[in-house]
Amino acid sequence: MKLVVFVCLLFITNGFQPSQFTLSQAGYQFQPANNVELIFTFSNIRTSALCAIHCYQNILCRTFDFDSSSHQCRLFEGSVNTGTLISTVITTLVGWIEMDASMFSLYNATSDQCINNRFLYSDTISGRCECPTHTFYDGSMCSNQRFDGDTCTSNNWCRTGLNINCIASICVGPTTPSMPSTTVTSYTSTTVQISSSPTMISTTASITSVTSATTTVATCTTLINFNDIPGASSTSGIIPNGYKNLNWINAGYINVSTTPSNSGYRAGVSTMPFVMYNPTGGNLTITSANGTRFSFDAVWLTSAWRKPMNIVVDAFSNGWITSGGQVSLSTTYQTKFSCSFCRNTDTITFYTDGSIGSNLTQNGTQFIIGKLCISFGH
Ligand SMILES: *[C@@H]1O[C@H](CO)[C@@H](O)[C@H](O)[C@H]1NC(C)=O
Ligand SMILES: *[C@@H]1O[C@H](CO)[C@@H](O)[C@H](O)[C@H]1NC(C)=O
Ligand SMILES: *[C@@H]1O[C@H](CO)[C@@H](O)[C@H](O)[C@H]1NC(C)=O
Ligand SMILES: *[C@@H]1O[C@H](CO)[C@@H](O)[C@H](O)[C@H]1NC(C)=O
Ligand SMILES: *[C@@H]1O[C@H](CO)[C@@H](O)[C@H](O)[C@H]1NC(C)=O
Ligand SMILES: *[C@@H]1O[C@H](CO)[C@@H](O)[C@H](O)[C@H]1NC(C)=O
Repeated sequence: MKLVVFVCLLFITNGFQPSQFTLSQAGYQFQPANNVELIFTFSNIRTSALCAIHCYQNILCRTFDFDSSSHQCRLFEGSVNTGTLISTVITTLVGWIEMDASMFSLYNATSDQCINNRFLYSDTISGRCECPTHTFYDGSMCSNQRFDGDTCTSNNWCRTGLNINCIASICVGPTTPSMPSTTVTSYTSTTVQISSSPTMISTTASITSVTSATTTVATCTTLINFNDIPGASSTSGIIPNGYKNLNWINAGYINVSTTPSNSGYRAGVSTMPFVMYNPTGGNLTITSANGTRFSFDAVWLTSAWRKPMNIVVDAFSNGWITSGGQVSLSTTYQTKFSCSFCRNTDTITFYTDGSIGSNLTQNGTQFIIGKLCISFGH
């Protein structure tokens, strides 16, 4: 399994705690211990260095693989030693962070000491520096929680979020290989590229396991369609903070009946007449108003002018990007972006990556959100 060849060390900008990722020889991809450890797939990354930076920016990411032909960059939670490097096309390679105990020396220190720490989570509730989600402290490091059949000494060694528990020193999951599929990522448009991969869906998920898994996924306890904004004008305005217990930055609402008929606004409406949009064309950010986190379930997006226009959607928890993806928008139909594993989110951002598009009567980077689904407390 460990056909690891050290090819080069990749030096990245100052401020990165480990200044290097190790890269494999070309011709390998990463096979994690379990497919749920694939956390993010980008489709338009130009270089392995940029893929490494995306990995670095995600506290959950420990390993990535990158295909310079398809420009696909996949981020994994699993450390390199928990998975396997498998042979594949020559254009693909694997990169990983070499972990050692010094990176976790602040474990259980007071939470103020690990704000913005790459390896530990500053938990303001316990007041301590904790291991990130899906890892446990093994006495020297935060290691990946283990799967069916692996050894353990207590429940937190096992992937408890998947109902895998430590029984007689072995991690034991629910009957048979029906991993609750955090992969029930459904989306309607072929232009959506989000944090999932077809291989995840096909492995173990029989129809029944997918069905039972979906029942555990919160979907849309808060549906927002922008038609009940208190004190809204009949034309357009700024969405007030506190609407739906969220704060809204650079977010406006607009009555689509007042917009040019050859723009994307009318295609973008879910419930007449209001939609949300970014009036300046710049970044749009939504945060929890009272600190309670939510799952970011789905959003329906349309471009106002440019076609196609790429939007990057990022979900954050405590300042770290935890999931997200990229969507290519049209001006003539809505594209649904959904995420069944964007949980514990406190902030969502939307921004355009400056894609080039044909213009209608204008050429701005405005986009339209017809509706948004979130679930507080998930
Ligand atoms: C964390 O530190 C606190 C305070 O020093 C201590 O009471 C607690 O037992 C420690 N927890 C662990 C898991 O080491
Ligand atoms: C939306 O705009 C149209 C056209 O100006 C107007 O007739 C309608 O009353 C507006 N709707 C609301 C809810 O204000
Ligand atoms: C918009 O968001 C992107 C990605 O987070 C960031 O790089 C950029 O600086 C932001 N732009 C503004 C104007 O805040
Ligand atoms: C924050 O708002 C959400 C949505 O209404 C609610 O479910 C949650 O209980 C609130 N949390 C607090 C701490 O008030
Ligand atoms: C729209 O603006 C972008 C960025 O300024 C530019 O690259 C693109 O060529 C413009 N589209 C058209 C059709 O002019
Ligand atoms: C976009 O279209 C308008 C109207 O057809 C035209 O005047 C304008 O020059 C175009 N913009 C660009 C950047 O080509």
